[in-house]
Amino acid sequence: MQTWTTAAYLIAAILFVTSLAGLSKHETAKSGVLFGIAGMTIALVATAVVALGAASGLGVALLIVAVVVGAAIGLWRARVVEMTGMPELIALMHSFVGLAAVLVGWNGFLEVEAGHLVLEGSLLSIHHAEVAVGVFIGAVTFTGSVVAYLKLSAKIKSAPLTLPGKNALNLGALLVFAVLTVYFVIAPQVWILAVLTVVALLLGLHLVASIGGGDMPVVVSMLNSYSGWAAAAAGFLLGNDLLIITGALVGSSGAYLSYIMCKAMNRSFISVIAGGFGATSSAAADVEGEHREIDADGVAELLANADSVVITPGYGMAVAQAQYPVAELTRTLRDAGVEVRFGVHPVAGRLPGHMNVLLAEAQVPYDIVLEMDEINDDLAETDVVLVIGANDTVNPAASEDPGSPIAGMPVLRVWEAKDVIVFKRSMAPGYAGVQNPLFFRENTQMLFGDAKERVQDILAATKSLAKSG
Ligand code: TAP
Repeated sequence: MQTWTTAAYLIAAILFVTSLAGLSKHETAKSGVLFGIAGMTIALVATAVVALGAASGLGVALLIVAVVVGAAIGLWRARVVEMTGMPELIALMHSFVGLAAVLVGWNGFLEVEAGHLVLEGSLLSIHHAEVAVGVFIGAVTFTGSVVAYLKLSAKIKSAPLTLPGKNALNLGALLVFAVLTVYFVIAPQVWILAVLTVVALLLGLHLVASIGGGDMPVVVSMLNSYSGWAAAAAGFLLGNDLLIITGALVGSSGAYLSYIMCKAMNRSFISVIAGGFGATSSAAADVEGEHREIDADGVAELLANADSVVITPGYGMAVAQAQYPVAELTRTLRDAGVEVRFGVHPVAGRLPGHMNVLLAEAQVPYDIVLEMDEINDDLAETDVVLVIGANDTVNPAASEDPGSPIAGMPVLRVWEAKDVIVFKRSMAPGYAGVQNPLFFRENTQMLFGDAKERVQDILAATKSLAKSG
């Protein structure tokens, strides 16, 4: 049985690695998902067979009930969740991984105390060190993810919490953890583990509460990484090799994603891990001016006279579900000989790859969907840029106002194009709460309303222009 389980775990681990490799490219993303599903199925079946073989009658019943209830809730949530609600769902799921790691850690300690698990000497010390580390990472992940969930779902304000001496507080919590872990390994007692758990819960809460709205993407991927390390820690305690491998894969890929995002947003990776890098002490400059408006017919005319068009989608495209008419407009323009390309900012929307998924869903060809760095230098040569529901990712204040909360974040330089059309419903700021001077530029015109309806109006106007022309 042991050999079969090891073989199944090995195959599952290989499938997880191929899944990650597949997910790194548009063209292979679907097969990446299938590899992941296959790996998880093998892992689940192998683990269930082992657990059912080892458990008593009551244990088996509890296991079956837990799996059925968990699977039913998972299926229900996955079916009803809106694409725009994915980040908070993911944050909530990370919190479950963290909580599970805390419970596994506590269980590991109580098993030794009750005499169900007999370990001696250095093995016992290693076990207790694993308990302390597992509970700590799990508890930080748990409360951090709950706060991220509350912020992302707008149940609490996304403004950063700025307690006096917040960096010292975080550092102090880490020191307390280190000291308590040493004490716990030398003389394991329930109160030490309890204090360690409370300190870790508070640290997770404080780390994420201190981070401002615009920096949440990095936090979500960092919590993803923490949840992986929490799972790996649980794997050590349970003696489950696959959980260790899977946890390490999630932990390291999440950390790498955070690193890429930090680079994309020009943030320091170290300060993300330390938490609380979202606040700025300086004030953003006030934005004043007159904006100009345009209607759908006007945009259709501009497009009819353009040779090159770039579309920069953002969160508003996801809210409006405008990707289908946007894809149709793209086809219509390309058929008329206009060069159409997309410029996607790494943190556009609310999920890594959010825009790419929507555009792929609407069958926009991959080769015209370019990343920010690939398109930025071409924007000055572009006739018309359509900013569809994007705001922070096209905000010139990021490069021009050192006092701005998003100062230093690379953005799509859409204002360099000949004409810029901004699709949104009002003059409201974007997710980071920062005013956008783009709206007042001479070459910018606002097209107000729901992005999907406005793109449909442009499509209709383009078709009637083509008929009359
Ligand atoms: P945002 O700055 O969030 O702005 C979206 C704009 O869409 C809003 O200004 C809104 O203006 C407009 N909008 C909303 N619904 C609309 C509709 N139905 N029709 C037309 N417009 C609509 O968008 P962005 O440029 O994509 O930037 C993303 C932001 O989210 C960044 O600050 C990023 O840091 C943050 N974030 C990203 C992630 C990831 S991983 N991508 C995760 C968490 C947070 P109106 O209300 O006036 O319509």
